[in-house]
Amino acid sequence: MNRYKKRVDSPDETMEFAKRLGTLLQAGDVITLEGDLGAGKTHFTKGLAKGLGVKRIVNSPTFTIIKEYEGRLPLYHMDVYRLDEDGEEDIGLYEYFYGEGITVIEWASKISEQLPAKRLDITIRHAGSEKRHLLFEPQSEHFEQLCKELVE
Ligand SMILES: Nc1ncnc2c1ncn2[C@@H]1O[C@H](COP(=O)(O)OP(=O)(O)O)[C@@H](O)[C@H]1O
Ligand SMILES: [Mg+2]
Repeated sequence: MNRYKKRVDSPDETMEFAKRLGTLLQAGDVITLEGDLGAGKTHFTKGLAKGLGVKRIVNSPTFTIIKEYEGRLPLYHMDVYRLDEDGEEDIGLYEYFYGEGITVIEWASKISEQLPAKRLDITIRHAGSEKRHLLFEPQSEHFEQLCKELVE
């Protein structure tokens, strides 16, 4: 699979880009978000939610681990930072991953063993105060096509 890169220069640009991704997603899609604290993972998810037609305000699920939203498809927004790496806490992640909704997982590397094989991995890196590098690593043909459409 190829890797795709996109430079964004402002929070609005990230929002618009993520929104466009949200409009292209299909039932069952799983997206991981990596990046330091404050990189913009939650901000990106807010844009993606807009693209999915979510009307409610999307906030960080840091303390609840999972938040669900209603949109064109259901959105399951996870922040697994606080989950044990050995995956002993069974909170039924599989039901989300293999369900009909869209799953977005912040800090997904914490549960790398439990992630589905077919997913889109996104890494956000700081590149100046409001600049960010978005790196897309599709892990399936479906996401490869989607990245081509989105980034090129
Ligand atoms: N280009 C950008 N893309 C996304 N967020 C940005 C950008 N520039 C500045 N920011 C700011 O960085 C912060 C990112 O916070 P957040 O999305 O909560 O990060 P994370 O979830 O990765 O910890 C927000 O306050 C956002 O406004
Ligand atoms: Mg966050």
